Amino acid sequence: MTESVDDPAGASADDGAVIRTRALTKRYRGGQLAVDGLDLTVPAGSVFGFLGPNGSGKTTTIRMLMGLIEPTAGSARVLGHPMPRAARVVLPHVGALIEGPALYGFLSGRDNLLRYDAADPTADPRSRRARVTAALERVGLTAAAGKKAKAYSLGMKQRLGLAAALLQPRRLLVLDEPTNGLDPQGMREIRSLVRELAAEGTTVFLSSHLLDEIEQVCTHAAVMAQGRLIVQGPVADLAAGARGRLVVTTPDPADAARVLKEQGVVDVVPAEDRVSAEAPPADRDLADLNSALVTAGVRVRGFAVERASLEDAFVALTGEGFDVAG
Ligand SMILES: Nc1ncnc2c1ncn2[C@@H]1O[C@H](COP(=O)(O)OP(=O)(O)O)[C@@H](O)[C@H]1O
Ligand SMILES: [Mg+2]
Repeated sequence: MTESVDDPAGASADDGAVIRTRALTKRYRGGQLAVDGLDLTVPAGSVFGFLGPNGSGKTTTIRMLMGLIEPTAGSARVLGHPMPRAARVVLPHVGALIEGPALYGFLSGRDNLLRYDAADPTADPRSRRARVTAALERVGLTAAAGKKAKAYSLGMKQRLGLAAALLQPRRLLVLDEPTNGLDPQGMREIRSLVRELAAEGTTVFLSSHLLDEIEQVCTHAAVMAQGRLIVQGPVADLAAGARGRLVVTTPDPADAARVLKEQGVVDVVPAEDRVSAEAPPADRDLADLNSALVTAGVRVRGFAVERASLEDAFVALTGEGFDVAG
């Protein structure tokens, strides 16, 4: 049977999902369980953040999705087709940047891309130079295009790998920690590039161990810890799942803390000029809480519920902090 990515039956089988895995599992030789029963659904058109601390199984998952390694158990479908079996029909529609892009150090950035493009049998040689020039421009490497790749910084190598993934228009981009090695300005540039690509209709799947990066650019996210999926869904829903913090700004923090506890508020943490606590449930009228404080003589300068971040959600789900340093 020949498989075609445009085959409507193939796409509808996954309900519009661009990536779908079922109980996907990888145990490396030596017994390390790197990915454990992963059920992942990446909707078409999303910017999907695959979030987890170092060692949580992100790269292993991506390598299975791209058909670079075989799962130990379970299955993965990309663009409606099983991987790695349909790799030959799927991969031409997928641009990928995976940990440590393979570059020829002795070639310039431009020559690396020319070579990469020439290895693609579907790429028209007549438009090769124009494609390479456009890709270099897109990732901000035009000025450094003539330099040997071995003289590139980690961030520049990362950009060159990204340029290679962008030579052709793609339905799906898979980027493994694309901002690794970049300075804050470089990270901003990658974020705006990702938004641009998404606006053009490309689904972007990107991994990161940085929470705020995912919050800034992604529409959807999945959170991994120790090879297991903790939660996935629209970023707004994930953050909403965790309660925000009630913050009372006051010169009387001890009194305020006492009153809040009397009112049944939990996780009350007094500080020098404020008290924070778990935000009360939605059915509790905040005006009553505020008036209880004022009636008890607490001088209230500020009274607000701060929106929960993805980090609050992560802490609530795992009971631990997000281990950024890995
Ligand atoms: N080739 C390999 N052989 C054995 N263990 C590996 C290999 N690659 C990764 N691992 C282990 O699998 C786990 C997940 O690693 P990885 O997928 O690289 O996580 P992440 O990309 O989230 O940092 C880690 O414990 C790592 O040490
Ligand atoms: Mg990794």
